[in-house]
Amino acid sequence: MAITLDALPYAYDALEPHISKETLEFHHDKHHAGYVNNTNNLSKDTEFEGKELEYIILNAKGGLFNNSAQTFNHSFYWRCMSPKKTAPSAKLQTMIEHSFGSMEQFKEAFITSATTLFGSGWTWLIQDGNELAIINGSNAYTPIIDHKKPLLVCDVWEHAYYIDHRNARAQYLEGFWSLINWDFVASNLS
Ligand code: FE2
Repeated sequence: MAITLDALPYAYDALEPHISKETLEFHHDKHHAGYVNNTNNLSKDTEFEGKELEYIILNAKGGLFNNSAQTFNHSFYWRCMSPKKTAPSAKLQTMIEHSFGSMEQFKEAFITSATTLFGSGWTWLIQDGNELAIINGSNAYTPIIDHKKPLLVCDVWEHAYYIDHRNARAQYLEGFWSLINWDFVASNLS
């Protein structure tokens, strides 16, 4: 079965004013859709045709890896945001305090990490046993190739924010922070 494009889990204008309808139309309908189409086209008539997305990510190289990982990363990213105000669960809060000192220190570390990521990539919160960690990955990096459990991700490719914020990545990150779907983050804890 071909890889399919996940629908956005909210309306295109639901994240305004931080992320506009125009950004989500381009980001989901052009960029994310493009990665899905490329994954299917590059898999065609190869051992990857009909395989599950995770299998492709873990085994493919080059363009097929890039496009399949970007497909996964975007589906994960959409679910990390919500127009509904949420808060970290008690368990998540305790783990964040254990690993980063406080919620404020975690926010500062995450935003600093995402602001300073050079070029295109993704800033992740991952779980490694009882510890949480922030990692930056360039281009299509996804932590599942290192068997690390993703909890949260922010897309820091320019296509995620250039329409709304031009080059002001830090401004986009502040908006992203206010949109985080903490229920989804907590649901990813093992
Ligand atoms: Fe993106």
